[in-house]
Amino acid sequence: MLNRFTLILSCFFVITSCSNDGRGYEYMPDMYRSPSLETYGQNSIFSDSLNARKPVEGTIARGYLSTFYYDGSLEGYLASKDAENPIENNLETLQEGKELYNMFCKHCHGQNGAGGGSITHPVYSAVPHYNDNITLRRCDLPMSKLKPGHIFHAITYGLNAMGPHASQLTEEERWKIVLYVQELQKIEK
Ligand code: HEC
Repeated sequence: MLNRFTLILSCFFVITSCSNDGRGYEYMPDMYRSPSLETYGQNSIFSDSLNARKPVEGTIARGYLSTFYYDGSLEGYLASKDAENPIENNLETLQEGKELYNMFCKHCHGQNGAGGGSITHPVYSAVPHYNDNITLRRCDLPMSKLKPGHIFHAITYGLNAMGPHASQLTEEERWKIVLYVQELQKIEK
């Protein structure tokens, strides 16, 4: 009796242990064998069956500006003469522009935009006077005649020894600084 029982039991184990590819029971097959989807491949999950998703609504592309449409090239600089300052020029915005100028520009361009800031390095301190009427800039205008767009361009993309300030200042802050620089352009040497 015991022998027969042992025989049946071992037959049962032999049969069941060989089932299911010999890997035993899988309680959560998805976890053992997850479906791999290629980034740009197709799938059955999304309605358009494409894996690459579109950015969500309202996504802002890196480097995108909503008030200034010119790139960092010379062509972009020349074309930026037509850019308009969206910030109203009043006592408050001018004051904010002055404060920002003092924080971000004064150490090179000096208190009144005539140079002589606290930076004494020969390269970084070789700044043109904002009221300069002699040396022509990239746009064939002297410093005193630079348009708001030119100034915004210089702040955003930099020029030679002057680094770009796009990561430090919002668009609005840059336009406020432009307002203040325009005041400094009027100050005689
Ligand atoms: C590290 C020093 C430094 C800082 C900080 C700096 N500048 Fe300049 N900036 C310069 C130098 C040097 C030049 C001259 C570059 C050249 O002509 O090669 C210059 C040039 C300019 C010009 C002329 C650009 C043109 O198109 O000819 C403007 C306008 C200007 N800076 C505005 C600013 C403003 C506004 C700030 C603050 C947000 C600022 N700069 C911060 C060093 C600096």
